[in-house]
Amino acid sequence: MALLQVEDVSKRFGAIVVADHVNLSVGAGEALGIIGPNGAGKTSLFNLIAGRYTPDEGKIVFQDRDVTAASMRTRCHSGIARTFQIPQPFARMTVFENLMVAATAGARKSIASARRDCAEVLERTHLSAKANAQAGGLPLLDRKRLELARALATAPKLLLLDEVAGGLTEPECMALVETIQSVRESGVAIVWIEHVVNALMRVIDRLVVLHFGKLLTEGKPEAVMADAQVRQIYMGIEPT
Ligand SMILES: Nc1ncnc2c1ncn2[C@@H]1O[C@H](COP(=O)(O)OP(=O)(O)OP(=O)(O)O)[C@@H](O)[C@H]1O
Ligand SMILES: [Mg+2]
Repeated sequence: MALLQVEDVSKRFGAIVVADHVNLSVGAGEALGIIGPNGAGKTSLFNLIAGRYTPDEGKIVFQDRDVTAASMRTRCHSGIARTFQIPQPFARMTVFENLMVAATAGARKSIASARRDCAEVLERTHLSAKANAQAGGLPLLDRKRLELARALATAPKLLLLDEVAGGLTEPECMALVETIQSVRESGVAIVWIEHVVNALMRVIDRLVVLHFGKLLTEGKPEAVMADAQVRQIYMGIEPT
């Protein structure tokens, strides 16, 4: 049984169609990649899954429960966590305080268990040495790590990653990939939107391409990347 099912979901803003009858399912523990040109509706799909947007049509089912009308908070409590394309920490709080907010408000943990779990998340995301640093002053890699750590502190079953690798150097990117792989190995399902395809390919089982709000194709990552239509739309490579 799928962990998440997006069933025939559509959403428009005036003339812009951000989701056009999208059908997608994610299995427990699966790692799914999403690519597509700028403005294809990738972040909007996360907004629909996480509850920031309500679909005009269709249904979102998480763990067999229809959550289409559920608030972001309820979805977070039930195990859906996301990162933002532009990191959104509480800039004046420390790294640890940011995680404590996520663990207590996002996962309704007691202070004592939140402390314990946040210390563990710090370790997993290689942020222990920065625990007391102000979030607003972190360099890019640590801001990305914190974005991931805040999502993990809510103890998700489904983790939505929105372009976490963008802007990093190659070694930084590989360090982040390692962390994401370890999250994945712990049984958390991942949906990862990413333009840095070589990073994505190291983690995912399945790849989906979005174009103008439509699901263009999905399948084994290598097969999807070799698809002539995908190459043309996504990479601008004309068919030979
Ligand atoms: N709340 C909104 N109101 C109006 N238009 C919106 C809204 N949200 C998204 N859009 C528009 O919908 C389109 C898809 O946006 P979205 O952010 O989902 O794209 P994306 O695939 O994530 O792109 P990128 O790769 O640049 O992050 C864009 O044209 C965007 O301007
Ligand atoms: Mg986006």
